[in-house]
Amino acid sequence: MNSILSIRDLGIRLGGRQILHGVSAEIQEGEFIGIFGPNGAGKTTLLRALLGLCPISCGELLVFGKPPGKTKHALGYMPQHPGCPDGTGLSARSLVSAVLRGERWGIPWISSSASGEVSRALELSGASSYADRPFSLLSGGEKRRVMLAQSLIEKPRLLVLDEPLAGLDPKNQMLLVERIAQIRKETGATVLFISHDVNPLLGVMDRVLYMAGGGASLGAVDEVITGPVLSALYGMEVDVIRAANRVFIVNSESNVTETACHA
Ligand SMILES: Nc1ncnc2c1ncn2[C@@H]1O[C@H](COP(=O)(O)OP(=O)(O)O)[C@@H](O)[C@H]1O
Ligand SMILES: [Mg+2]
Repeated sequence: MNSILSIRDLGIRLGGRQILHGVSAEIQEGEFIGIFGPNGAGKTTLLRALLGLCPISCGELLVFGKPPGKTKHALGYMPQHPGCPDGTGLSARSLVSAVLRGERWGIPWISSSASGEVSRALELSGASSYADRPFSLLSGGEKRRVMLAQSLIEKPRLLVLDEPLAGLDPKNQMLLVERIAQIRKETGATVLFISHDVNPLLGVMDRVLYMAGGGASLGAVDEVITGPVLSALYGMEVDVIRAANRVFIVNSESNVTETACHA
C-alpha cells in the first residue's frame, strides 16, 4: 500500500495561537479514517491544511507525496456547511455541475460528458431521485447527499468529509455512513471522515485519528479510544466505557464528553 497522506511533527499557528503541534500520522491508500475530537481540536484546520487552504508553520505535510495544493490527483471535499444559501431556486444538479467549472453557482449549460459525470456522482451518492428539485427545499439528509455528490466529481482518490453527519437523525446518519462505505468499496478512494460521534463509524472505519489538546493519536479503535491515550491527549482523566457495542467517553466527573455518542 502507498502512503497517501504523510504528516510529520506538524504545527499550525492561526491568529497568534498554536492550534496544532507535534501531529504525526501516515495514512495508506484506501483506508477509511474516522477523525474525532472536541470542538476546537483543530480537525477542520488539519483538513484545510491538507487541501492547501491553511498554511502550516512547522513540520511536514505531504499529500500523494507532494505539498498541499501541488498534487495532481483529484481531492473530494465535503465542507461542514452547504455553500448554497436558501431561496436561490438552484437545483441540486446545477449545484453539483458548478463544481466542474470550479464555480460556486450554477451554470446554464455543460457538455454531455460533464453532464454524465454529474449524473454519475449523483447516482453514487444516492441523490439522483431529487437532483432536479431546488436545493434549498431539500431535507437535511438530502442536502448532505447532494454535497457528497459534489465531492465525488472527477473521481477523487482522497475524499475529505467534514462532519457529514451533523444535523442528521440516527437513521439518516446510518444511511449516509453506509453510502460512503459503499463508495469507498466501489472506488477504492481513501476516506477522511470527521465525526462528532465515534459510534456511527465503528463498523466501517479502519483506524481512528483522535485530536485533542493540540495533538493527535492515530491507530486502531481499540488502541486509541482508551482511557490512557485519551487522558494524555485531553490532559485530564478520561474514561472509556463500552456498552451495547457502543463507546462512551466520559471525563473524571462522569460527564459525557463532546465526542461521546448520542444516548
Ligand atoms: N483563521 C483562523 N484564525 C484564527 N483562529 C482560527 C482560524 N481558524 C480556526 N481557528 C481556531 O482554531 C481552533 C481549531 O478550529 P477548528 O479546526 O475549526 O476546530 P474543530 O474543527 O476541531 O472544531 C479553534 O480554536 C478556532 O477558533
Ligand atoms: Mg470543524
